[in-house]
Amino acid sequence: MNQLAIHQLLAGTYLESPAKKDLKPLFDKRLAANLGLIQELFFALYPGREDSFGDLLSILGALFRKRPEELRFQDLERLREGAWYQSEKWVGMQLYADRFNGDIPGLEEKIPYFEKLGINFLHIMPLTRRPAGENDGGYAVSSYTEIDPVFGTEADFKRLTSRFREKGICLMLDFVVNHTSDEFPWAQKARAGEPGYADYYYTYPDRTIPDLFEESLPEVFPETSPGNFTWIPEMDRWVMTVFNDYQWDLNYSNPKVFLAMLENMVALANKGVDVLRFDALAFLWKKIGTDSQNLPEAHMLISLFRLCLQVIAPGVAILAEAIVAPHEIVRYFGEGRFKGNECEIAYNATFMACLWNSVATKKTNLLNKSLRSIPPIPPGCSWVNYIRCHDDIGLGFDDRHIEELGWDPGAHRRFLIDYYCQRLDWSPARGAVFMFNPLTGDGRITGSTASLLGLEAALESGDAEAAEGVLDKIVMMYGIILASAGIPLIYAGDEIGMLNDYSYLRDKNKENDSRWINRPFHDWESVAALDDKGKLTSRIFDHISHLIRLRRANPALGGRGATVLHQSGNEHLFVFERRAGIRSILVIANFDENPQVLNASWASGAGYLEGGKYRNLIDGKESAVQSGLLEIPPYGLFWLEHKGGAPA
Ligand code: GLC
Repeated sequence: MNQLAIHQLLAGTYLESPAKKDLKPLFDKRLAANLGLIQELFFALYPGREDSFGDLLSILGALFRKRPEELRFQDLERLREGAWYQSEKWVGMQLYADRFNGDIPGLEEKIPYFEKLGINFLHIMPLTRRPAGENDGGYAVSSYTEIDPVFGTEADFKRLTSRFREKGICLMLDFVVNHTSDEFPWAQKARAGEPGYADYYYTYPDRTIPDLFEESLPEVFPETSPGNFTWIPEMDRWVMTVFNDYQWDLNYSNPKVFLAMLENMVALANKGVDVLRFDALAFLWKKIGTDSQNLPEAHMLISLFRLCLQVIAPGVAILAEAIVAPHEIVRYFGEGRFKGNECEIAYNATFMACLWNSVATKKTNLLNKSLRSIPPIPPGCSWVNYIRCHDDIGLGFDDRHIEELGWDPGAHRRFLIDYYCQRLDWSPARGAVFMFNPLTGDGRITGSTASLLGLEAALESGDAEAAEGVLDKIVMMYGIILASAGIPLIYAGDEIGMLNDYSYLRDKNKENDSRWINRPFHDWESVAALDDKGKLTSRIFDHISHLIRLRRANPALGGRGATVLHQSGNEHLFVFERRAGIRSILVIANFDENPQVLNASWASGAGYLEGGKYRNLIDGKESAVQSGLLEIPPYGLFWLEHKGGAPA
């Protein structure tokens, strides 16, 4: 039993009790329930630091007192539901407030748009203060809680969150837990020589330690920010900067940093945030002689954050932004005694990368192999499934799987980069390379969903048929994640097939970061014309909103239902079942440009065919198989309804 289940039990008895208004006894119970684990983790990370542990206990009490009453009751409601984020009803969208509609009030204005599309979960990109020039899209934070005036006022944000609560919209914000900007108050104090603050970061007087680290530390941004340390003349020291040189890595081996960050995290949650996206969390602990990613101490630290947050705000979930090797990602749900006690949610980055691999190869062999190798996630945990986000597509497949298919991993990755980044004249994709590292030959891919799938090229050459084919591909890709277990997250703009945005090349603060190609200003002109059904943009929107509605009405598609992957014998098809008895759904997607077939007797035995007939939930049409084969059109997507009766 994980801690969530225990807190559910505690809340259950409390909700029945008449003294419901006074929540302090509940805090005591929650603390008692988590204290043993908190203590164990704390002293494993900070041996002998009884002084800081005492500080932690008083901070927890103080933070609970600061949790607004409305949110404390929401926490109870969420506990009553348990793993609330597993519900099929959540469908998310990720967006930049400024690029979407100017600012926070502009975003509020668009609530009807979210409702029209069926979105009720928003990941809004960083909104807090950041340096004016380069700031990595706000991931260089100068404050964890103060809204940057470019987005609006504190009052605007407060109004937005209460409107979201009224409307049942869930809010996810980033907690940039690994680093701050070089303008953050702690960095400024360290620069000014204020005692103690240099130790909030990893700082060194000469190259001895940095050079030892560099022997095994990879580079995250090799093109724009080579090396992992930056010389700060005012301090006369080297500072660890794993990402950009203006993002200083926090030194969690100092317990003061953990305590201060815990306060920042809860302050952010107390603003009405439902899910905290733990940014770059794989990097939280650094150790010479390692790559300083996914270290056991990083996991302990994240669990420590989780267990403390659970005492104060058990209705708030943590999402792991761990874009790491497939077998490493699942470890962020917690292992051993900490299973289910680390992050509740994680990005399904392997799934995303494999879907793009399937588009390029037209085959689902690597996708099936990779998904089968991912161990089941702990109960009470969930994926976020996505096609595109604001970052690049990393080719984080397991080399072993590529080799088992008879391919060379290096050559295969090069093929994918060439396919997506305009290095093959027959490829319809219009992507760009992100951070090519000539030393290792590694690179990542960026571009919008529609451009990567060929829409930009089709429109440019006036090929209407090709454009229709891209529509099918977009619908197929989103149809897969909308039928998968986990929260589907649509990248704003994809719902109307927006293309790459090249304007970043004219901005000196962005020109070196090709990820901006896929951070477009929302196309409200196409949205205004959604009633014009002749337009491709309107049709993409209609297809996606239709799929969203179907998903939200089918509990089998939520996170609680089981998923069974099927080897169909046809390597162009991706076939999986979302099992829920007679409400089960069979999903079939064809990654090939030709029609493909599936043996109908199998689908019949599984209960999806009756008298040779099947019904696709997506168009509601009943069709009959011919010569015992179920035919799926090019880039076709079926969500077959279970016929009832037969075993599921
Ligand atoms: C995460 C963000 C990315 C950012 C990095 C550093 O990976 O998604 O956009 O550049 O963290 O904060």
